[in-house]
Amino acid sequence: MKIDLNLKPESKRGSVPDDESNLGFSKIFTDHMFTAEFKDKKWQNAQIKPFGMLSLHPAANVLHYSQEIFEGMKAFRQEKTDGVSFFRPEKNAKRMVASAKRMDMTPFPEEDFLSALQNLVSIDKQWTPKSQGTSLYIRPTLIGTEGMLGLKSSKEYLFYVILTPVGPYFPEGFNPIKIYVEEKYIRAVEGGVGEAKTGGNYSASLLAFRKAIELGYNQVLWLDAIEHKYVEEVGTMNQFFVIDDIIYTAPLDGTILKGVTRDSVITLAKDNGYKIKEEKLTIEKITETIKSGSLTEAFGAGTAASIAPVGELFYKNEKYIINDFKVGEISTKLYELLTGIQYGRIEDPYGWNVSVQ
Ligand code: COI
Repeated sequence: MKIDLNLKPESKRGSVPDDESNLGFSKIFTDHMFTAEFKDKKWQNAQIKPFGMLSLHPAANVLHYSQEIFEGMKAFRQEKTDGVSFFRPEKNAKRMVASAKRMDMTPFPEEDFLSALQNLVSIDKQWTPKSQGTSLYIRPTLIGTEGMLGLKSSKEYLFYVILTPVGPYFPEGFNPIKIYVEEKYIRAVEGGVGEAKTGGNYSASLLAFRKAIELGYNQVLWLDAIEHKYVEEVGTMNQFFVIDDIIYTAPLDGTILKGVTRDSVITLAKDNGYKIKEEKLTIEKITETIKSGSLTEAFGAGTAASIAPVGELFYKNEKYIINDFKVGEISTKLYELLTGIQYGRIEDPYGWNVSVQ
């Protein structure tokens, strides 16, 4: 696909602030964005242009019927070479196609996904921060743009990619966070869209999230939709528990997001001698094993959040403190391995890092 360049003059471009300690999560965006349109049955008008507002038909499908999917991915400044690398971008390309199919949208071609990203990130590379815990967060997005109020799939789409330099997702950094277990509302049900990375999954979570925040918790842990019994995932992360030295996470049964960090954690755990099981666990088992002391660690894993240790669960008006609210050994080891590869501090035996050209 040919990409037209309509770039900001060099003299007007910015770069990551010298003080990287206040980046937060997506407070600022870079100079450019990638856009391409699907119209008249073909992808066209691919361009990199100055970051700016979108103009949409007020009846655009995305605004009424929510045909919207996105990806969350990161590029990391390499400690040894000062270069920049994407982390497993082909996984996001594939997942975006799968999400598009589930939402009956026309995917942006998988084979053009990486070259769009390569072109955009190489132009805005100077926005990639350097310090530990920071990265360039990449948000590819696909929306239905056809202006038509009849309920049907859009015939027109906009695919765009925006970039934002970010710090740790949680202000806590790599320290325990607190999780609220939701009893009433649910996130996803088998046969639904839980596996697709679509905005509706996230907007449906916000009411429970607000409740969690008001009670002093960082995130919501979702239970299954049928029995409200099995633990599924956390707002922005897949969830892991360590019980009797075995790491557990929920299996991919159609309700769980196929997290790239989840997959990386599973691989790293297996290859470093840990036992890991993709198995359903009940919330009762979790609370009982916290009480008995056999549940020794919990952590979430996600692109934005990286690996986030969990120090407390709140369920049915009771607080359950995990590992004395301290970061556990296994969480630390996996965090060091994952971020070691991402920042090029240790060897990447998997070929997960893809250099920005
Ligand atoms: C990500 O981890 O990239 C996500 O998509 C989570 C987002 C809702 C902050």
